Amino acid sequence: MSTLADFVTRERSRLLADLSDWLRIPSISTLPEHAADCRRAAAWIAGRLERLGCRVTTVETGGHPILWAVGPEVKGAPTVLCYGHYDVQPPDPVAEWISPAFEPTVRDGMLFARGTADDKGQVFCVVAALEALEATRGSLPFNLRYLIEGEEETGSQGLTDLLTREPDRTRADAVLVTDTNIVAPGQPSADVGLRGIVHAEIHVRTLKADLHSGIYGGAAPNAIETLLHLLEKLKGEDGRIRIPGFYDRVKRPTAKELKAWRALPMKEKGFKEEAGTKALVGEKKYHFIERIWSRPTFEVHGIVGGYTGAGSKTVIPAEATAKISLRLVPDQRGREAGAQLVQAVRRLAPKYAEVTVQVFSTVDPAATPLDSRPFRMMDAAFREVWGKGIAPIRSGGSIPIVPLLQQRGAPVVMAGIGLPDDRLHAPNEKLTLDQLWKGIVLFGRWFELLGDR
Ligand code: BES
Ligand code: MN
Ligand code: MN
Repeated sequence: MSTLADFVTRERSRLLADLSDWLRIPSISTLPEHAADCRRAAAWIAGRLERLGCRVTTVETGGHPILWAVGPEVKGAPTVLCYGHYDVQPPDPVAEWISPAFEPTVRDGMLFARGTADDKGQVFCVVAALEALEATRGSLPFNLRYLIEGEEETGSQGLTDLLTREPDRTRADAVLVTDTNIVAPGQPSADVGLRGIVHAEIHVRTLKADLHSGIYGGAAPNAIETLLHLLEKLKGEDGRIRIPGFYDRVKRPTAKELKAWRALPMKEKGFKEEAGTKALVGEKKYHFIERIWSRPTFEVHGIVGGYTGAGSKTVIPAEATAKISLRLVPDQRGREAGAQLVQAVRRLAPKYAEVTVQVFSTVDPAATPLDSRPFRMMDAAFREVWGKGIAPIRSGGSIPIVPLLQQRGAPVVMAGIGLPDDRLHAPNEKLTLDQLWKGIVLFGRWFELLGDR
C-alpha cells in the first residue's frame, strides 16, 4: 500500500497536469459540432492505456466511438472489466462558471472543470491506479478489460448495441463501474442500485393556428393550458404519479436497508442546503432518501410554446411541447413504463386536442449484489485507505449500460470517488483532489486484492 501511496506523492503534479490536458478537450456528446472533440478525447485516453501495454480497439458506432482495451494476458489470474465514459454534458449556463468549464483550475484543493467528476476524472483515477501498479509491481496482476464510451450522457445506444450483439465482452470475474460518488468524504459507500429512465416528449395542438386572445379568449382552447392540465393529471402536488400500473413492480427497500439509510451522514437539512431549496417536496410519507433512491419520479424538463419575446403579445397558442422523463426503480422495466406513459397520456388527452407522446429512449433500473467477492474486496480496500468500510447505498441517477454489464453474471461493483457536492451537469463541476489521490491507492489496492487469489 505504501508503495502505491508513494507513487501518488511522487507523480502528483504530473498526474494533475495530465488530467487537465484531457479535461481541456470539450467532448460534449450531445452537440454534433463537438464530434471531433469526442474522438480526440477517446484517442487521448486510448494512448494512456496503450502505454500500459493494452491492445486498444476503437469500435465505431452510429455516434461516438467506444474504446475496448485488453491488457496483457496473465494466465490463471482473474479478469476485471472496467467501465467509464469520456463524454461530458454541455457547460451551460456558461456565465455561471467561476473559471471556464474547459480550463481546468485548482481552487481550495479542488479541480474545477466539466468532466472532473463525471466522468473523466474518475476514469483517469482508475487508469492512474493501473499506472501505479505497473510502476510498483512491474506488471498488472490480473487480466484487464476496459470499456470507455462516449455516449453515456446521451443514452449509450452504441454500447448497448455492441453488448447486445457481443455479450461475451462482459464475461469477467468482476466489473468495476466508476461513475458514482461516495456519500460523504469520511463515509465510503458503493452503489447497489441505480434508477432507470424513460425520456419522452408530449406535444399538444389545440388550434389550426394561434388566435387573438381577445376575440377568441374564453372559448378557444389554449395549447399550453391544455398541456399543463395534462401534466397536472400525470403527477399531482402530492408527488404521486397517476399512470395506471406504473407502481406495480416497484419494490420497497427492506426494513434493514431503510434503517441503514437513515443512519447515513446524509440528513435532510444538509441535503436541502446542497440543493439550494427551502423545502423538499414529493411523497411526504417516504423519507427523503427513499424518495430519491427507491421511488420512481416524473419530471418536466422544459416547456416550449407561445410567445416569450420582449414586450407582450396577446395570443392563444395553438401548440405546446413538454420534455419529460420518468425515473424508474427496481423492478420496473423501461419499455413497459414507456408504454404505460403513452397509454396514460392518450387516455387523459381531451377530445378537442391532438396530443402525441414520443418515447425517445428507455433505460432499465439496476441492482447489483453486495455479497460478491469483488464487493467485499472493495470494502477491504476502503478500510485500508479510508479507515472505514463501505455503506451500501443507491443513487437516483442512471447509467444505461449497467444492466447489460451484468448479463453474463459478472458481479458489478459501482464504486466512485466523487462527492455529493461535485455539481455534476451543473456549473462549477469539481473533483476534490484528495479524493483523487486516495482513489488511486484505493483502486490499486482493489486490483491487487482481486489479483492475489
Ligand atoms: N454518472 C451519472 C449518473 C450518476 C450520478 C450515478 C451520480 C450515480 C450518482 C451519469 O453520467 C448520468 O448523468 N446519467 C444520466 C443518464 C441519462 C442521460 C441516460 C442521468 O442519470 O441523467
Ligand atoms: Mn457519468
Ligand atoms: Mn452524467
